[in-house]
Parts: sequence; structure tokens; C-alpha cells
Amino acid sequence: MSDPLLKLIDINKKYNITGFKIPALDEVSLEIYQGDRIFLYGQNGSGKSSLINVINGLVKPDSGKIILNGKNITDQSSYRRAEKIATINQKIEKGTFSHLTVEENIILAKNRTRGRKFIRRKPALSNKIVKSLPWLNNRLNQKVLSLSGGERQGLAILMGIIENSEILLLDEFTQALDFRVSEALIKLVHKIIIQNNMTTIIVTHNLEVGLRMGTRIIIQHSGKIIDDEPITKYINKNDVKRLAFYG
Ligand SMILES: Nc1ncnc2c1ncn2[C@@H]1O[C@H](COP(=O)(O)OP(=O)(O)OP(=O)(O)O)[C@@H](O)[C@H]1O
Ligand SMILES: [Mg+2]
Repeated sequence: MSDPLLKLIDINKKYNITGFKIPALDEVSLEIYQGDRIFLYGQNGSGKSSLINVINGLVKPDSGKIILNGKNITDQSSYRRAEKIATINQKIEKGTFSHLTVEENIILAKNRTRGRKFIRRKPALSNKIVKSLPWLNNRLNQKVLSLSGGERQGLAILMGIIENSEILLLDEFTQALDFRVSEALIKLVHKIIIQNNMTTIIVTHNLEVGLRMGTRIIIQHSGKIIDDEPITKYINKNDVKRLAFYG
């Protein structure tokens, strides 16, 4: 097997709330390989977002190491890491710049990675994606703040994909959207991820979506990884639920 793209070694994180320490990540070690699509599942408060944010640098672990492509990035800022690690979460406004137009947002995302091999390899990618987001087709000159939540999230995902050449982190990225828009975005993202063999971590409480999109499932419970298997092991959704909720 080739070397892992991303390696987490013995990560610990406790949040300090008025003297009371809340454990969010407990001795988490993990190896992620190019092309892995990890469905990260667990009950509320099990530490999924903490894990995502330790990877993208928004949360600093108390101890442990993060290695990306063989390089120790544990102390690298989230800003630097964003060149290689894109995060889309439920907070729609985070992924885009409201006062710029759709096109300016896309250009910005593209320029940030100008010269990177991913862009050279996929020169037509942004055009292709804009075409596949029908709601953006005639709105390239509109300010992003005029888009609806779903339209905006579609754009944020598009930007995440253009920007990113290594890993895409999706943390409940359709949570704020209605069923129809959410289904359309899930289908689109799934297609793009597969077409580009992108390495992804997908956090969702929707078991059906997670099992459909993932190649590998990781179950987290009280900050610990309690299972890490090829998704084919789980044909029965109840098995996943039982493990995630009762440990
Ligand atoms: N900024 C913070 N300050 C204090 N405690 C926090 C903070 N972020 C998370 N926690 C606590 O850490 C634990 C893990 O939270 P985390 O958000 O990682 O869980 P999660 O699995 O993403 O949950 P959910 O499914 O509800 O999104 C929880 O007990 C939570 O209350
Ligand atoms: Mg969360």
C-alpha cells in the first residue's frame, strides 16, 4: 500500500469550560489514503466536528501529530492549510464572499491555486461545475448575498473543490438546506468526488447518504474511534446505529 495522504497520531483535545474539561478527542489515530471517502458517523457531541477542525487547523489539539504528505503540519495555521484542505460545513456564509459576485468568487478560488497541478490537470473543471449547477448559470454577475442558502452552498462547494487539491472535508454540509436542494447537491458532490478521485471525509447524520457516498466508515463515540471498516461491512443500518449510540 502507498503512504497515507494524511496521518493523525494520538490526537487529544479537551475543551476547558469554566474549569470543567470536556473531552472531545481521545487518543485518535488515523491514516487516510488518496481516494478514501470516509463516512464519519457518531451521535451528537461524539467529536466529529472536533476531528474535522483539528485536521483543518481551526482547533489546536492538546497533544498529538498531524502529518500531511509526509510533512508535519501540526503547528501550521488554518490559513496555510486551507490551500490543501477545503472544509464545507453547515454555516453557509463561511464558504463564500458575500459582497463579491459569483464569478469573482470563482476566480478568487481559482487564483489561489494558480499553477497547482490540480488546476493544470483539470483546466475545464470550473466551467464544467458551473454548468452542472443550473442555479448559477445565469447569475455569474450577481453578488453572492443575493443567492439563497442552497445556491450559496452549491457555490461554496464548487469553490472548495476548485481550491482544494488534497482533501475535502464535508461537515453536515446540507443541514441548512431543504430536501430537494440537499438531494441535488449531494448527487452533484458525489459525482464530482468520484470523477476526480477526491479524498473526502463526510460527516452526516443521514445514514443512507453516508453509506451511499463513503468507501470507508469510521464510527466515533465519546471522542474515540470505535470502528474503522470498509463500508461494505455494513449492509445493515441498525448495526451502525447500535455501535454509534451504545459504543
Ligand atoms: N468550542 C467548544 N467549546 C467547548 N466545548 C466544545 C466546543 N466544541 C465542542 N465542544 C464539546 O466537545 C464535544 C464534541 O463536540 P463536537 O462538536 O466535536 O461533536 P460532534 O460529533 O460534531 O457533534 P454534532 O453531531 O452535534 O455536530 C461536545 O461535548 C461539545 O460540547
Ligand atoms: Mg458537529
